[in-house]
Amino acid sequence: EKGGYASFMLKEIAEQPKAVADTLLGRIDEAGQLTLDEVRIPASVLREVDKVVIVACGTAYHAGMIAKYAIEHWTRVPCETELASEFRYRDPILDQGTLVIAISQSGETMDTLMALRHAREQGARVLAICNTNGSTIPRESDAVLYTHAGPEVAVASTKAFLTQLVACYLVALYLGQVRGTKWGDEVGSVIRELSAIGAQVEEVLETMEPVRELARSLAGCGTVLFLGRHVGYPVALEGALKLKELAYMHAEGFAAGELKHGPIALVEDGLPVVVVVPSPRGRSVLHDKIVSNIQEIRARGARTIVIAERGDEAVRPYADHLVEIPPTPVLLQPLVATVPLQVFACELATVRGNEVDQPRNLAKSVTVE
Ligand code: F6R
Repeated sequence: EKGGYASFMLKEIAEQPKAVADTLLGRIDEAGQLTLDEVRIPASVLREVDKVVIVACGTAYHAGMIAKYAIEHWTRVPCETELASEFRYRDPILDQGTLVIAISQSGETMDTLMALRHAREQGARVLAICNTNGSTIPRESDAVLYTHAGPEVAVASTKAFLTQLVACYLVALYLGQVRGTKWGDEVGSVIRELSAIGAQVEEVLETMEPVRELARSLAGCGTVLFLGRHVGYPVALEGALKLKELAYMHAEGFAAGELKHGPIALVEDGLPVVVVVPSPRGRSVLHDKIVSNIQEIRARGARTIVIAERGDEAVRPYADHLVEIPPTPVLLQPLVATVPLQVFACELATVRGNEVDQPRNLAKSVTVE
């Protein structure tokens, strides 16, 4: 069943290029336009949407955080992403102009389900992004865009996360397309970039031995910090979550801009800090800021583990360990930048003797509150 892999998690990490490709399959016509026939919310309704609210838990929530950057950039519609467990106990302001996107691998997560019920009661339309056919969340939604990751057995989500991201990008582009925003005309080119990602994930997977080696060298560490900016911030949170749940290590993700507002006090000699660096092309100001963050933490003794685009020479002098990833457009980088963090956590869990597929205290789908 594990196809020769030591764990389902390793198998599922390896399946990511295919999962990404499968989630794109059949959703683009010959003219390079999106044909999301499953999204049975009429275009006329989508044109009237004045707010998008994304609700999800855990890893799916991190996908939703990344989606916010893409949706606001490509569609100019305000978007909020909220933990389903917080959303449902607030008194959120929703109406018929609100599009709620519920992201869930299992389609059975109780908090996400209750959040979408609450949203529908207020008249909002709900679109589910889900990996499990016929599960409760898509059944109770107005429409569903299925991710085609295939069954995910390991408790820690990997391939489902990458496909959730792809589905979020598709929804964002589709909204741009039906609303005729400037990015609506760019759908074809973004789709081409998305279609290239599978091969880039494959490339990352082939170069992971140094990451595994590094992970083994950190088996005795108590804490690992993760920093990122922009879409790299949710990636940092995801890297920290994977490490907590699999390696049972104390791990925290921060927005790099918050360092000076507190977290930098945690930095001491030898502390491993993983930094996700945005592309040096594109928004160079983001890149420059993170380079100074790396300098700041290194000056205080941090052991810097830098995930950066191949050819990014500016970070090299400050990286104790450099993990190179292929160049991607800024917004799509999480699809490749997350992969080394999954491998890192999986390897650390293994050397620490943990049960990789079944971490203690966790269940694959959280159907209780
Ligand atoms: C982490 C993980 C969980 C799930 C969360 C939501 O690796 O798997 O954080 O992402 O429980 O589950 P779904 O997506 O099934 O709603």
